Amino acid sequence: MGIIPGEHAVLGLIDRLTRPLLRALDPEDAHALTLRALKYAPLPRPAAGDPRLAVRAFGLDFPNPLGIAAGFDKHAEAPDALLRLGFGFVEVGTITPRPQPGNPRPRLFRLDADEGVINRFGFSSEGEAGGLARLSARARHGGIVGVNVGANRDSADRGADYVRLIETLAPVASYVVVNVSSPNTPGLRELQEAAALDDLLARVVAARERVARRVGARPILLKIAPDLSLPALDDVVAVARRRRVDGIIVCNTTITRPKGLRDAKARETGGLSGKPLFPLATRMLAETFVRVENAFPLIGVGGIDSGAAALAKLRAGARLIQLYSALVFRGLGLVAEIKADIARAIDQAGGTLADLVGLDAAAVTAQPWPE
Ligand SMILES: Cc1cc2nc3c(=O)[nH]c(=O)nc-3n(C[C@H](O)[C@H](O)[C@H](O)COP(=O)(O)O)c2cc1C
Repeated sequence: MGIIPGEHAVLGLIDRLTRPLLRALDPEDAHALTLRALKYAPLPRPAAGDPRLAVRAFGLDFPNPLGIAAGFDKHAEAPDALLRLGFGFVEVGTITPRPQPGNPRPRLFRLDADEGVINRFGFSSEGEAGGLARLSARARHGGIVGVNVGANRDSADRGADYVRLIETLAPVASYVVVNVSSPNTPGLRELQEAAALDDLLARVVAARERVARRVGARPILLKIAPDLSLPALDDVVAVARRRRVDGIIVCNTTITRPKGLRDAKARETGGLSGKPLFPLATRMLAETFVRVENAFPLIGVGGIDSGAAALAKLRAGARLIQLYSALVFRGLGLVAEIKADIARAIDQAGGTLADLVGLDAAAVTAQPWPE
């Protein structure tokens, strides 16, 4: 159970009062309610950042390495509230060019016994117009807000969807994520195959350069699946390096079901996230780190639910980290708890945050494959 420090007394109260209620609701209704509460809560500005936690990556200065992952604020409704919770950065989306409803409900499942989540939203998106309007309206507020973009399910040219969204949304975002790893849009993950990815990234990087000439540099990151084989990961990293993307996010949800899941809802179709994803996601992060050879930074995401898990991600090769599912089980106090634990670990090691990144990558890749 997270403890909210004094500056976030309002939040602590919301957290304590609403969590029992939220857990009794349908998970999608609970999520919508949380987002609305955050949007309208009188959250104070966070205290000045702890300089030990500052990170520079992709040409951007992050006040701390912990971000909120894509999917929490799909329509860019509350990025400023999420920054005020103490996240170092917020990734909104996935946004598709045209509105689409996604899959029928229910499509979000809480695996209480496993502290996992399964979702099969399938890019429910209001389309670019709403996101563009809201991101434009807050663009001068500062803070790092990235936008995660995806192709429409029925698109005839998925590459064109990414190019278009980079051209429209990058000017009002800090960075853009090319999401080719959602398991819930049929065929989307095929864009990770070498030839398709090479073609996609050539177009995406050309769009990045056009945007840069107009409004200044906007880093473009690729978000990959944890379900790639290692030979496929070799290809992904080689193509990403050759095409000079600015970073990779490792990783999205998994379609695998690790051994030992106890909740009956584990049989639902969709992408699994949260605690049961941690071993696979962290292994894939380390595997990516050793292949990237510091050509660009990585964002590590998947199953972070404590300071120890956050540190393990950094040590496996993440310069920045993100989380989502653990908020459901641990509450919003987890943000402050993780930051405090990272600061303490930096002090104990006697170096800087950067010194921790990738320390354990080789060791993690030598372990037996997580089951
Ligand atoms: C309900 C839900 C919706 C998500 N939607 C998106 C999405 O729209 N785009 C995306 O790139 N990732 C999405 N994700 C994946 C997360 O961004 C993250 O990669 C994954 O959940 C692993 O992190 P976690 O274990 O901390 O949740 C979603 C995850 C969840 C649980």
